[in-house]
Amino acid sequence: MQHSRFPLTAVTQSRLGQVDFDNPGFGKIFGDHMFSMVYEDGAWSKAEIIPYQALAIEPGVAMLHYGQTVFDGYKAFRGEDGQARIFRPERNAARLHDSCQRLCIPIMPVDELTDIMIQATRELIELDHAWIPSQWGHSLYVRPLVIGTESTLEVRAANRYHFLIMTSPVGSYFTDLQNGVSLRVEDRFTRAASIGGLGAAKTAANYAASLLPGAQSKAQGFDQVLWLDSNEHRYVEEVGAMNIFFKIAGRVITPPLGGSILPGVVRDSALTLLRDWDIPVEERRLGIDEVIEAFASGELEEVFGAGTAAVICPVASIGYRDELYSIASAPPGELTLRLYNELTGIQYGKIEDRHHWNQCVTLPE
Ligand code: COI
Repeated sequence: MQHSRFPLTAVTQSRLGQVDFDNPGFGKIFGDHMFSMVYEDGAWSKAEIIPYQALAIEPGVAMLHYGQTVFDGYKAFRGEDGQARIFRPERNAARLHDSCQRLCIPIMPVDELTDIMIQATRELIELDHAWIPSQWGHSLYVRPLVIGTESTLEVRAANRYHFLIMTSPVGSYFTDLQNGVSLRVEDRFTRAASIGGLGAAKTAANYAASLLPGAQSKAQGFDQVLWLDSNEHRYVEEVGAMNIFFKIAGRVITPPLGGSILPGVVRDSALTLLRDWDIPVEERRLGIDEVIEAFASGELEEVFGAGTAAVICPVASIGYRDELYSIASAPPGELTLRLYNELTGIQYGKIEDRHHWNQCVTLPE
């Protein structure tokens, strides 16, 4: 590898043979190597690339009890031109930084974190380049994780942390484009507090809160939960694994970032592309009653989600209070498909990257 910045301990035996590239699933198997860095005695140090391996953690580690853990996720795509393209990793670094701050994790300054994350990702990709799937729609998912590793039962920020970056070959998180997903509007539980909570942080608690309503949705035949705000259970928030967009009478509406929803990188990319195309876009609060009215009047044209794992995902139907609303143009609606094609075209290097979103890595032959 050229210009290696981090000390490397390479695997003696690759696990690549265990990967089912036709059916990679999502996060079922992890790349041979991972990045590791430690915070102790008030400083981050010991940055290195080592074989993917189990962590030695005491059961008394506070993170296991009180949830001081944050993560993020971005993808690298294999282009036919021999380049891997990492999609907007600097946005994920900035978000990881914000998540750490919200969880009281003493993260390094954002510029330093961005530099380390991108360089570590580049080195992991070069090293484990054979792990990047070549099938369209498949990619190498990159998962940074920061966890408190101090053993204590006191409820306070830990004084030791582990920062890891692992990779995993993945397929599409949801169903294929032709089927779309079904969402159940959750009007009893909430994902995150409307004001002052953890909703904008990518932290385990938000995902733990989603498990019971998620399981209840599955039991009723739905794929995912559509969350409403915690104050009134009226305004649409997000889906948990993706942000949500509604096309109503020619205008695309998505909930605004206000601290309760995740500031999605693909959400931002979709908004940018829509604005490029002069499609009217509104980032505003949208009541579920407005969605139902638009459905009744025939003005609800398309619904889609946007997320790193989910890409651009058509929504085929929405269940709300014993009624099922099937979206007329799904799956996928015309605009949903246009966005999907443009975004994936940029990610795989087939369409000009006008906004300089990709970070390219030339892969070894
Ligand atoms: C991502 O899109 O990267 C996510 O983190 C969603 C994941 C929790 C499935």
